[in-house]
Amino acid sequence: MDGTKEMGGLRNVSSVCSISEMDDFDLSRLLNKPKLNIERQRSFDERSLSELSIGLARGLDTYETTYSPGGRSGFGTPASSTRNSFEPHPMVADAWEALRRSTVYFRGQPVGTIAAYDHASEEVLNYDQVFVRDFVPSALAFLMNGEPDIVKHFLLKTLYLQGWEKRVDRFKLGDGVMPASFKVLHDPIRKTDSLVADFGESAIGRVAPVDSGFWWIILLRAYTKSTGDLSLAETPECQKGMRLILTLCLSEGFDTFPTLLCADGCSMIDRRMGIYGYPIEIQALFFMALRSASSMLKHDEEGKEFIERIVKRLHALSYHMRSYFWLDFQQLNDIYRYKTEEYSHTAVNKFNVIPDSIPDWVFDFMPTRGGYFIGNVSPARMDFRWFALGNCIAILSSLATHEQAMAIMDLIEARWEELVGEMPLKIAYPAIESHEWRIVTGCDPKNTRWSYHNGGSWPVLLWLLTAACIKTGRPQIARKAIDLAETRLLKDSWPEYYDGKIGRYIGKQARKYQTWSIAGYLVAKMMLEDPSHLGMISLEEDRQMKPMLKRSSSWTC
Ligand code: GLC
Repeated sequence: MDGTKEMGGLRNVSSVCSISEMDDFDLSRLLNKPKLNIERQRSFDERSLSELSIGLARGLDTYETTYSPGGRSGFGTPASSTRNSFEPHPMVADAWEALRRSTVYFRGQPVGTIAAYDHASEEVLNYDQVFVRDFVPSALAFLMNGEPDIVKHFLLKTLYLQGWEKRVDRFKLGDGVMPASFKVLHDPIRKTDSLVADFGESAIGRVAPVDSGFWWIILLRAYTKSTGDLSLAETPECQKGMRLILTLCLSEGFDTFPTLLCADGCSMIDRRMGIYGYPIEIQALFFMALRSASSMLKHDEEGKEFIERIVKRLHALSYHMRSYFWLDFQQLNDIYRYKTEEYSHTAVNKFNVIPDSIPDWVFDFMPTRGGYFIGNVSPARMDFRWFALGNCIAILSSLATHEQAMAIMDLIEARWEELVGEMPLKIAYPAIESHEWRIVTGCDPKNTRWSYHNGGSWPVLLWLLTAACIKTGRPQIARKAIDLAETRLLKDSWPEYYDGKIGRYIGKQARKYQTWSIAGYLVAKMMLEDPSHLGMISLEEDRQMKPMLKRSSSWTC
């Protein structure tokens, strides 16, 4: 009923809307679908007003006006599947039900979703907590469905937790650190709710989550873009929260690189996996968070100072990443022929990478067309592994130039069997085995070859792949990946990850009803149905950060 009514209303506005949307992304063209089908229910007047307020109020992302107003849903109905003419897949309703079941309440307000709702599993560990990174796809699903309240409450709750004093033994952590996860404790007798949070002091390995603060900023922008509500980001509390996070990562020290030095296990890959140093996942999120923050920080005295520092850092960071992390056939061939032990400013092989350290697999893996940002670059060490999240975020944040973004998609297509296989998407490729596994993971039985973080396949990554596909104009790749996921995910009860070279087996210790597997699927579906949602999680290329023309030369800028 609702759907029919909405469709009727939509027809009246669609022709007007499509003209205004042509200016930015003509995304409907990418989908080969008539624009009529992807319109939403808000009136044109409301839309343009909100767009104007976003665009003009403080120049929030001047380059993009793609606006995803979301709808209302209220009664547990996925608005996205009722308000357009696509046949909703039967899995969508199940996914919404499972997602809603995972909602966590604090004093009656929804504040997040638990990591996994797996009753069959005897070992709960910390999967009954709200993880900041895990909540991101849930949040996007709710925003896309016109339910921003839970996202707002989550942003405020985590901001409040940031204010806690954080200690590991006798050592105090930086003020800006955001929690990896939090839990709501219900006292049934006193009828009170209280919060406990983990900033790394309880986490296995005792590592603070570097990604949490970045995701928080990125989500604040997504909320702002999606709702058109600038007032949250503009509160003194949110402004301060952003500044505290930025203080942690913009401080000057002994660094010679603009990238962020990290401990192993500080991100989604939260166990020892040889990602210490300058992991691509963190660098890409760092870049995206800096750009997001600069669009939301007020131009008052304090804000201005941070914006200036951000601009400088982005300039150096994009240069460094695009030059030294980028690998394609040509670059690989150049490194293969590198001379070593070069001293002074004329050095071509600046980090003294020894060509013998290039692993054999990368020569076969590298297609003639295509490329990617490698896992890590530091003195005499290049980690050539492919990491999905970092590369997708590089596309979404426009850390990747247009050419690089296209090349990443070319690589995914050329290496489909390896990177997608039977279940999207490999978190990292390839797996590390035998002696190397012993040394790199410290004999971690959870991270054996082709399992978990070590070459496992994570359905949550589907939303990132889909967003990257839409941004690069290749929705058919996303559709293929979603089709694959649909053959298994529900039947297998939404596993956390799959194992094996092509991801055929449910992961050894994978949770079932893993919330971000569920939410990731929903976000992927909704974005493909209505590509204008992409605007909340994507940033257009900043014309001031000119793409590099040359690589691997000895000049410095
Ligand atoms: C695992 C994952 C981590 C995730 C957590 C909760 O520890 O490695 O990325 O946040 O589970 O799902």
